[in-house]
Amino acid sequence: MTLDKFISPSIMVPKIYEYAEYIKLFDRYNLSVIHFDVMDGHFVPNIMLGSSVFDDLKVMTNIPLDIHLMVTQPENYIPIFNVTKGDWISFHPETTNHPYRLLQTIKELGCRAGLVISPGTPISYVEESIDQLDYITLMTVNPGFAGQTLVPNTFNKIRRIRKLLDSYETEIDLVVDGNTTPENSINMAKSGANGFVVGSASNILKSPSTFGKFYEEYMANFK
Ligand code: DX5
Ligand code: ZN
Repeated sequence: MTLDKFISPSIMVPKIYEYAEYIKLFDRYNLSVIHFDVMDGHFVPNIMLGSSVFDDLKVMTNIPLDIHLMVTQPENYIPIFNVTKGDWISFHPETTNHPYRLLQTIKELGCRAGLVISPGTPISYVEESIDQLDYITLMTVNPGFAGQTLVPNTFNKIRRIRKLLDSYETEIDLVVDGNTTPENSINMAKSGANGFVVGSASNILKSPSTFGKFYEEYMANFK
């Protein structure tokens, strides 16, 4: 079974004044999800995107948002966001005492539930929660900043997670986040990733005027 390939544009990358134009493009190209980074300045040394930006995006589009919580005690942050059914919520399992319970809470909200695995985080977390997971986000850079280069061993870690998922015959999406250039994404896909958070490394978010051209080229690479 091969899962559909999709991109998830990282909305922390465009300028605020470009949001309206980009959202129209995301709608026109029928994107299935938009990546929304939340950073608390504690779990990661950066502060990003809060609930008012989230609310504004909700007014602009019906595309589900994927809240990537880079925070300690993510259970305290989920109520801050006015999520609707079909949104995605993911967190780093080492940031909470009860990752399994939190995945259950996310699903009770009608949202897709995901774990985010950092370069130093063991993939055994995935196996322990496999029955609650809708997706896994594998960080292919250290979390916290756009514009970094791939950590070594990325492709091997993608393969290890894909092998684990295949052994359970699940339909869990494997999303990669960080430095997903067109070239890297081809090898990430070959290793077993099917979702691609695209940020500053991708041509896709260079400018609204070239979005369509680069999006189509990016997807064509997977054929
Ligand atoms: C990194 C963020 C990413 C970021 C990646 O912590 O989670 O969403 O935007 O984009 P690149 O690596 O392409 O700048
Ligand atoms: Zn992210």
